[in-house]
Amino acid sequence: MSHIAYVNGRYLPQRHATVHIEDRGYQFADAVYEVTCIWNGRPVDHAGHVKRLARSLSELHIAMPCSPAALTAIMREVVRANRLVKGTVYVQVGRGVAPRNHVFPATAVKPSLVMVAKHGAGPSEALAQAGVKVTVQPDIRWGRVDIKSVGLLPNVLAKQAAGKAKAFEALLVKPDDTVTEASASNAWIVTKDRTVVTHPLSHHILGGITRDTVLRLAMAAGYAVQERPFSLDEALAAKEMFLTGTTTFVLPVVQVDDRPIANGSPGTVALDLRRRYLEFVEALDDRAWAV
Ligand code: PDD
Repeated sequence: MSHIAYVNGRYLPQRHATVHIEDRGYQFADAVYEVTCIWNGRPVDHAGHVKRLARSLSELHIAMPCSPAALTAIMREVVRANRLVKGTVYVQVGRGVAPRNHVFPATAVKPSLVMVAKHGAGPSEALAQAGVKVTVQPDIRWGRVDIKSVGLLPNVLAKQAAGKAKAFEALLVKPDDTVTEASASNAWIVTKDRTVVTHPLSHHILGGITRDTVLRLAMAAGYAVQERPFSLDEALAAKEMFLTGTTTFVLPVVQVDDRPIANGSPGTVALDLRRRYLEFVEALDDRAWAV
C-alpha cells in the first residue's frame, strides 16, 4: 500500500514527499517530534502528545505551526488516507528553512510540519509474555533530553549497540550509576515490597506520555508508586523491571546483559500493568481526538 505523508500543507505519496535541503531540522536538528500510537483508528493520549509538542517548541522558541485543532485535523486525514488501524503517526515540527547560520533566522520563517504514518503498533503478545533483554549503555546525551528534539544520535548509537548485543533496548546509565531511561522508552523497576519506581521528571529524561498514563493506571490499581532515581545496582537486584513508551506499551524486561532480573521471567506487576494499558487503549473512542 502506498503511504501518504503530509508535508507543509500537502498530502503526498511518501516517495514524493520531500523537504528543503536548508531545512534547519536537517542541518542542525533544529526540530522536535512526537510519535503517537493509533489503536483501532484512534490516537492514544493525543492531548498529552500535543501538549508535549507545544512544550518542546516553546522551550526552543519555535512557534506552533498551527492550532492544536488544525494539527488534529491533519493527523485525522493522515490516519484516514493511510487507512491506519493500528500504527503510529510521526509528527515533526522544525524551525523552518533559512540559509545555514547557527543563530535563529533574523526574520521569522514558517515552522515546517511533517507527518508520516506507519502500520503496526505495540510489541507482540508473544514478546511481552517472554520479556526482553536490555543492554547497559552510558547516557552520553545533552542536558535537555526533556525536549523531544530530533537530535537523537546518542539514542541511535545506544539502540544500535542493543541490536549488536541481541537486546531489545539500551538502558541508559549516568556516570553516577543512575538509570535515567532507555534509548526510546522509559525505565521502571518494581522493588521487593512491590513498589513501582521510575525516574522523576527532570531535564535528564523524556517525560513519556505512556509513563504518565502508566503512573495513573498503577495508582488507580492501588500500587505504591515512587518517582525517584534508582541505580543500576538497585535495578539488577529488583523484583521486576519494565519499559514503557508509545511503541513498547508496557514491556517486561527479564535480562540486563548476562544478568537475569529475579528468576528471569516477566514480573506479575509488569504484566498486570500491560493488561491495564491494553484495556485503556481498547476502550478509546472518538473522544480520543479531543485536544
Ligand atoms: N520515543 N524516552 C525516550 C528517550 C523516548 O524517545 C521515548 C519515546 C520515550 C517514551 O515516551 P512516550 O511514552 O511519550 O512515547 C522515553 C519514541 C517512541 C521514538 O523516538 O520513536
